[in-house]
Amino acid sequence: ASAVSGTLFSVGAQAADMTIGFSQIGSESGWRAAETTVSKAEAKKRNINFKIADAQQKQENQIKAIRSFVAQGVDAIFLAPVVATGWDSVLKEAKEAKIPVVLLDRDIDPAGKDLYLTAVTSDSVHEGKVAGEWLVKTAAGKPCNVVELQGTVGASVATNRKKGFEDGIAGASNVKIVRSQTGDFTRAKGKEVMESFIKAEGGGKNICAVYAHNDDMMVGAIQAMKEAGLKPGTEVLTVSIDAVPDIFKAMAAGEANATVELTPNMAGPAFDAVIAFKEKGTVPPKWIQTESKLYTQADNPMAVYEAKKDLGY
Ligand code: AHR
Repeated sequence: ASAVSGTLFSVGAQAADMTIGFSQIGSESGWRAAETTVSKAEAKKRNINFKIADAQQKQENQIKAIRSFVAQGVDAIFLAPVVATGWDSVLKEAKEAKIPVVLLDRDIDPAGKDLYLTAVTSDSVHEGKVAGEWLVKTAAGKPCNVVELQGTVGASVATNRKKGFEDGIAGASNVKIVRSQTGDFTRAKGKEVMESFIKAEGGGKNICAVYAHNDDMMVGAIQAMKEAGLKPGTEVLTVSIDAVPDIFKAMAAGEANATVELTPNMAGPAFDAVIAFKEKGTVPPKWIQTESKLYTQADNPMAVYEAKKDLGY
């Protein structure tokens, strides 16, 4: 990447010279696939040379990818950290090489704050809280046993979505989490764990609601409930996070109730922050927060499905 001095160049002109490496987690969910697709499109819009390394869910692969980006002398590194801890050494190496790092969609431990330029993420505690508050309102005072499908153990979003949901139901003694286990953000594990919850809870008759940290696990859980003769969306309430097209399909069929949207476009604001930083020295805020919006069956789910289905999910 070249540094041009003496002339005022447009953002596009400088961006065209930039190479940015992205250490992506993998392809565990529809949301993740969309994030990868959208990131590539956002890079193309800005003429950025964009290199994506798929870590296949392994932190060690992410660390290797970051080291390789540092060795290549890229202009910036995007990192979607699979877990929150264990980044200090490698991020220090990037810092020493004067390569700004931007976190996408997940956080690292607060102790690592000096090691990255900015983080583009949602407020994942808030997402969980919105889900919990929706359930409290919908249960309307009736006793409600909840089973929870957690995301990847150690991921900031899993910790935060759990905490947020617990905050959301804290004032309602009728709503109780009776089982909680990781489904690793995948459909297959969501289904498998839900099957074990159903067995453990009297064939599912004691389950009033399922809370899943992402829609993919919920889609798996819906399948498990249907196979067990339960009626998700009516007998068993569902609330999850991401707003992927398939959950809207399930909502339109009356088999899912609510989802909290997570935008897959984390890279757009990240590119803009890096360009402004490189071009004008503008230091972005430490946190660029994306929106979280609740959707229910009342929000014309089929129309949302149609609008989203070709966006790379
Ligand atoms: O970090 C964002 C989460 O990771 C998404 O909610 C989930 O689907 C993905 O795997």
